[in-house]
Amino acid sequence: MQSMETVKMRSFISQSVQKMRPSGIRKYFDIAATMQDVVTLGIGEPNFTTPQHILQAGVDSLLSGHTAYTSNSGTIELRRAISTYVERLYGVSYNPDSEVLVTVGVSEGLWVALKAVLDPGDEVLVVQPCFVANAAAVEMAGGVPVPVNAYADTDFQVTGAALEAAVTSRTKAILISYPNNPTGAVLSREYLLEVAAVAERHDLVVLSDEIYERLVYGVDHVNFASLPGMFDRTIVMSGMSKSYAMTGWRIGYITAPAPLMEAMRKLHQYLIMSAPTMGQAAALEALEHGEQSVQFMHEQYDGRRRLIVDGFNSLGMRCFEPRGAFYAFPSIAVTGMSDEEFCDRLLMEERVALVPGSAFGDSGAGFVRASYATSTENIMLALERLARFMQRHG
Ligand SMILES: Cc1ncc(COP(=O)(O)O)c(C=O)c1O
Repeated sequence: MQSMETVKMRSFISQSVQKMRPSGIRKYFDIAATMQDVVTLGIGEPNFTTPQHILQAGVDSLLSGHTAYTSNSGTIELRRAISTYVERLYGVSYNPDSEVLVTVGVSEGLWVALKAVLDPGDEVLVVQPCFVANAAAVEMAGGVPVPVNAYADTDFQVTGAALEAAVTSRTKAILISYPNNPTGAVLSREYLLEVAAVAERHDLVVLSDEIYERLVYGVDHVNFASLPGMFDRTIVMSGMSKSYAMTGWRIGYITAPAPLMEAMRKLHQYLIMSAPTMGQAAALEALEHGEQSVQFMHEQYDGRRRLIVDGFNSLGMRCFEPRGAFYAFPSIAVTGMSDEEFCDRLLMEERVALVPGSAFGDSGAGFVRASYATSTENIMLALERLARFMQRHG
């Protein structure tokens, strides 16, 4: 009911929150939830349940009565395991006592990292298309997001020139997330070095969201801090959600040099106290014994990736080969529709839920995001329905 009270109550809400745009993804989930027989490729989380041995470690932790807070930074066992893991994968060495923080997912990590480096009005170059929370997180931390677009002609890899053109005297940081949500792009070493050169030239902090780091296909993931000269100015955020099918456990982590970490720990301590205790126990098991599970899920995603990319291309929806994460990002240009209209009509006419690319930034317009973190049967059914849709509209 829209009463006077509701209108009046709105004045209680801060201007900055009122101005914040709601996520463009939610709308489709909300509509799809009211419909029968919808095939959704809209959701950005694994369809796997957390592997049994990891799940069991969380349960055991609870049943052993470990229900209290942990150290603010996370258990020392988990921080050691994170440090060992990062060193094993990338040869970058972080001190578990002072350079590793266990967070409530990258979601908290992102906010803590931004808040630690930004003063009010500082600008952050936000590479787009990107995760819908990125620009909002910059605003929530008091900064100003400056979109820097990556385009289809470079397979959605950002160029140094695009970043350089957006730098002003207020620029404080660059926020990148590769492997990328929504495009599936991975930034090649060549382009990463261009980003590094801009950071160095203008003395910027680089915030690198590497949550999809283990989900790369036929290419290597490069940890941004491992690039020459980048360790001291890089905050890497990652976590358990995607590679280990642990979205609901809410465990992520930040690795960064000690002075930056000290600032982030202070914020984390006031905001969160400590990440979920049973989740930390599960994450420890995952990092120490979860490699086979990662490989298994990776193989499954890779098969689905080929299926969906071939499917889109054969329907005339041009799709570059995504080398990371679990998203494909085909063009819908042949239909002459906007990406929003395409998604609306596809949902209504064929009951397939995709997400319009423009929800992730301006350069996503004309594309749609399809998550293949769903069963092969679902993907095949969605392609069948899309084929009918494209016959009418392609
Ligand atoms: C690029 C990116 N970063 C971060 C997140 C959130 O991760 P977490 O579950 O660790 O908070 C997501 C989730 O979709 C994502 O796609």
